[in-house]
Amino acid sequence: MKIAILTGAGVSAESGLGTFRDVGGLWTQYDLNDVATPQGFARNPALVHDFYNARRTNCAEAVPNAAHEALAALATGAHDVTLITQNIDDLHSRAGSPDVIHMHGQLMRALCAACDASWDAPLVMSPQDPCPDCGAIATRPDVVWFGEIPYHMETIAHAVTSADLFVAIGTSAEVYPAAGLVELAQGRTLEINLEPSARANAFDDHRFGPATQIVPAWVAELR
Ligand code: APR
Repeated sequence: MKIAILTGAGVSAESGLGTFRDVGGLWTQYDLNDVATPQGFARNPALVHDFYNARRTNCAEAVPNAAHEALAALATGAHDVTLITQNIDDLHSRAGSPDVIHMHGQLMRALCAACDASWDAPLVMSPQDPCPDCGAIATRPDVVWFGEIPYHMETIAHAVTSADLFVAIGTSAEVYPAAGLVELAQGRTLEINLEPSARANAFDDHRFGPATQIVPAWVAELR
């Protein structure tokens, strides 16, 4: 069976990485306009680097949880799995998932705004870091900010459209285009989340509860 999976911050919540819109979430602590938009970066690059440096350190200290591990095991089984994530952490890869599609970029990668070169980010980045390729002082985290185009959208659309099953895990379905992917699905659709998301009604089936309990149980039924 071809399965397309979309994950959000909820899949990493039990690894101690904050979500965005839950109580105490990142967007209740920071103004996203200051730290997750090109305009915010232009205004104060040091603040933006500090924000992502703190998240990069948290991510390096976090470990994949049972949901990440179950999804990695699913990919090595009999099913044809495409894993798409909105998350910029590397926990899916560290759990062993192959070919993770990071539509919002990756916290552990850096990007040159001048020449588009991308490289493994140091744990701490600063506005003065020169690009290793062109030398420009224009380095930024390789993440997709609000108002920017997510990565790999053609690949993602094809994977969702051609899947027998589309599963959304741990996302509030508040941010597009990710939240609209369920409309592209031609097969069955399943939402796995702590609680109904903003697009819950668009899914055929639902399983609610913590990802570390629900995801391994769901994967065990498929294998
Ligand atoms: N298990 C399962 N789901 C959980 C858990 C958990 N332990 N904890 C929280 N959740 C659910 C919440 O109920 C919520 O619906 O995860 C979802 C997290 O929603 P958001 O915080 O909005 O995160 P996400 O949907 O990934 O945000 C999408 O918004 O800010 C941008 O680029 C950012 O990729 C992010 C995008």
